[in-house]
Amino acid sequence: MSKTNERKKTTVQTFVSRKARGEKITVLTAYDYFTAKLLDEAGIDAILVGDSAANVIHGYGSTLPITMDVMIAHTAAVARGTKKALVIADMPFLSFQPSVEIAITNAGRFLKEGCAEAVKIEGGIEMVATVKRLVECGIPVMGHIGLTPQSIHRFGGPKIQGKEEVSRAYLVESALALEEAGCFSIVLELMNADNAREITAALKTSTTIGIGAGPHCDGQVLVINDILGLCEKGFAPRFLRQYTDLSPIITEAVSKYINDVKRGDYPSEEESYRSK
Ligand code: KIV
Repeated sequence: MSKTNERKKTTVQTFVSRKARGEKITVLTAYDYFTAKLLDEAGIDAILVGDSAANVIHGYGSTLPITMDVMIAHTAAVARGTKKALVIADMPFLSFQPSVEIAITNAGRFLKEGCAEAVKIEGGIEMVATVKRLVECGIPVMGHIGLTPQSIHRFGGPKIQGKEEVSRAYLVESALALEEAGCFSIVLELMNADNAREITAALKTSTTIGIGAGPHCDGQVLVINDILGLCEKGFAPRFLRQYTDLSPIITEAVSKYINDVKRGDYPSEEESYRSK
């Protein structure tokens, strides 16, 4: 039996019971069928179809340009490759902020067309009404506070959040309000470890998933391209642990292929079909 078959399906309740038991939750992003299949078979708890697809798949400089249709295509591909992990779709810029009705319509599309099992929305206390209605509609919601990349222009860059007392208080207040509104989980991005610890301890059922928020969160998330070295050379934020470097491996394989074709070494006799 494969690892995937032995494992129970991760649900939003799994997140909550893991917090109660003090067991860490593992999350990675994925954007396509085959990567999702590999992550699922390796035993990841949840796959976030992040709007970071805008950066690492489509080559944009921010997450802002990616659309609902593109995110749904990525989500559906990931869902087809996933058996046990929870599939969470990231709602793109302006797909939920304009009104609660727009948020319901678009979150619904992720569940109906993308086969996602939950959605993630960026924002703090100001998102409470939206979270409440989505949860009332039966749509599990993951929150996201701290550095929220869809507001990068307001922040003026990828800056650590919660450094001043006012913004620290806003983070704590937001986390409590999002839990109260029904978020089963909240991403804490780019904040001091002490603030993330305080938030994690203050939440009773909502699980915190950190990225650049230190070791005290209930779980961690990273962008798959970043841990595999499939990102821009020199991209090395302090929080990132790069587990392998696939870029030179791919470059070497492709260079060998180019040389083999040019030299007439590929395809060989054994790699060719003959009429008899
Ligand atoms: O889009 C994304 O990949 C994310 C994670 C980094 C949390 O939002």
